[in-house]
Amino acid sequence: MSSNEPSPSLLLLLVVLLLSWTLCRGDPEPVQDFCVAAPHGSGELAFPGLPCKPSSSVVSDDFFFAAHARGASTDNAMGSGVTPGNVEAFPGLNTLGVSINRVDLAPGGVNPLHSHPRAAELVHVVVGEMLVGFVSTEGRFYSKVVREGESFVIPRGLMHFQYNVGRETAVGIAAYSSPNPGLLIIDFAVFKSTLAADVVEKITFLQQAEVKRLKGVFGGSG
Ligand code: GLV
Ligand code: MN
Repeated sequence: MSSNEPSPSLLLLLVVLLLSWTLCRGDPEPVQDFCVAAPHGSGELAFPGLPCKPSSSVVSDDFFFAAHARGASTDNAMGSGVTPGNVEAFPGLNTLGVSINRVDLAPGGVNPLHSHPRAAELVHVVVGEMLVGFVSTEGRFYSKVVREGESFVIPRGLMHFQYNVGRETAVGIAAYSSPNPGLLIIDFAVFKSTLAADVVEKITFLQQAEVKRLKGVFGGSG
C-alpha cells in the first residue's frame, strides 16, 4: 500500500460514520415522486415503507381519501369514534411521512390514554371543544381546552388523550408525522387483552373488583 492510499481502518471509520449519519437522519430524501402501497403480498420493495405498486398502475384515486367526510359512531362505552387515515387505509401516503385521523367525541366522550410510538400528532379541532393533554417522561401534564380552529401538538411517543368538555359533539382532525404512527391504548392493553386479572391487580395496584369491572367494560378475558 502506498503512503498516499487511505488505510483500511480509516476507510472502515468513514463507512461507519456514513452509515450512522444515514440511519440517524429523519425520513430519507425521496428517490421517486411517490410509492403508492401495493395490495398485501405484491409490489416492489421500498425502504422505509410498504412495497410500491407499479407506477404505471397508479391512479388519481390512490391519492384521494373520503372516509373523513363522515365520523365514526360514538355510541360506545367511551363515547368516541376514531376513523384512521394511516397507510393501511390510504395507500397513497406510503413513504410520504404523514397521515391523518378523524376523532368524533360525544359530549363527555373520551379518546382514552394512548400513544403513537412512531409519530408526533397535531390535533386540530373543527367542531366543538375538547381537552387535549399529554404527560411528559418527567411526569408533567400539559393540556389545553382546544376550540374550533385551534390546534395542540403532542410530541412523539407520549401518552395523551382527548376529552369532550363541551355540550355538543366535538370533531378533531389529527395529523401525524408518519404514514404509520402505531397505536398503544393503555386500557385496551390492560383490560381488553388476555392479560390475567391477578397480574393486572399486581401491576396496576387496583382492587380485584375494579379489575373485574373494567375487564367487563372493555371485554377482556384472563
Ligand atoms: C387521537 O389522539 C388519535 O390518535 O386518534
Ligand atoms: Mn393520538
